[in-house]
Amino acid sequence: MNDNFLLKKLNERQEQNAFRRLLLPEGKTDLCSNDYLGIVRNQLIEKQLDAVAHPVYRHGSTGSRLLAGNYALVEETEKMLAAFHDAEAGLIFNSGYDANLGLLSCVPQRGDTIIYDYLSHASLRDGIRLSFAQSFSFKHNDLDDLEKRLQAATGTIFVVTESVFSMDGDMAPLTAISDLCQQYGAHLIVDEAHATGVVGEKGEGLVQQLNLQTACFARVHTFGKAVGCHGAIVLGSEQLRNYLINFCRSFIYSTSLPEASVAAIRCAYELFPDMNEERAHLQQLISTFQQAAMPWEKLVSDTPIQIVIIPGNDAVKKVAGALQTAGLDVRAILYPTVPSGKERLRIVLHAFNTGQQVEEVIKLLS
Ligand SMILES: Cc1ncc(COP(=O)(O)O)c(C=O)c1O
Repeated sequence: MNDNFLLKKLNERQEQNAFRRLLLPEGKTDLCSNDYLGIVRNQLIEKQLDAVAHPVYRHGSTGSRLLAGNYALVEETEKMLAAFHDAEAGLIFNSGYDANLGLLSCVPQRGDTIIYDYLSHASLRDGIRLSFAQSFSFKHNDLDDLEKRLQAATGTIFVVTESVFSMDGDMAPLTAISDLCQQYGAHLIVDEAHATGVVGEKGEGLVQQLNLQTACFARVHTFGKAVGCHGAIVLGSEQLRNYLINFCRSFIYSTSLPEASVAAIRCAYELFPDMNEERAHLQQLISTFQQAAMPWEKLVSDTPIQIVIIPGNDAVKKVAGALQTAGLDVRAILYPTVPSGKERLRIVLHAFNTGQQVEEVIKLLS
């Protein structure tokens, strides 16, 4: 089979020095995974499951939730998570990508308006592209620009943002965004992927830390980051849950998560309230990194995602390579994933990283 037609775009990637490869872990210090609290690294779910008598959880689910794939544990877990997040109801999806894609593509209708932060994750943007509603981005975290867009919006209005931004590590000004939504009658949708488990007293997320749960139309919490599992939940009203069960294609036309996955998610949520020490240590590492002086621009971030801007794919790859050689697994984020000139190191801090490891990174970057 001749597939040389693929070469043109692949060669473009090579020329930009941005060719993506799948790498295997090599036992370096983890400064890039989403395992913020160390739930995966420390096998906390396995240990929790070993410590209590439990049924043998099935590894297959045999169908979509609307056919053979529904079961008591997934419904109980949805209720448990909705209670943890102080929401009326929740619906579990197979991934955060599925949740965002499905929610954004099926709720806003033709004639409606979606206004989204320019730095919104690809899963939100792909959902928006699939929707028949009109859509506009607003400048990242820019309230004036958001208000301008709100003034011009028609139909039912949706405002979409992340609470913690995946590529910049900063937080959205959620209280002010929610005030604007209220003023213009807009429906706020917040992706809490990187806040789950990390932000808030028990890791409930930024929305609850700011007491904005009743001001949100929908919240998305993903399980692939601090939860240490896979999947996501969309939180909202019982009516929203019913709507998604009826109209959300990524929910309806996909085999559901198996019991074993849902049991693991449940375990992680049981662990969250007792992980204050981990959250405090993480916060300490974040302050150390934020206070360090270095010759490159460092973005302001109060979250585990720390960004050092090193313009140019070649330059940022060189610095990432030096860190890798020193045994530190730090990854470069290249153009075209980020705008040209904004290439960066994305250093992810974890509760299991030591102060010494963070000092080592700082020293190598100074
Ligand atoms: C902000 C944000 N939303 C959604 C997702 C997608 O979640 P998942 O990895 O569970 O598909 C990610 C993951 O990269 C993310 O960073």
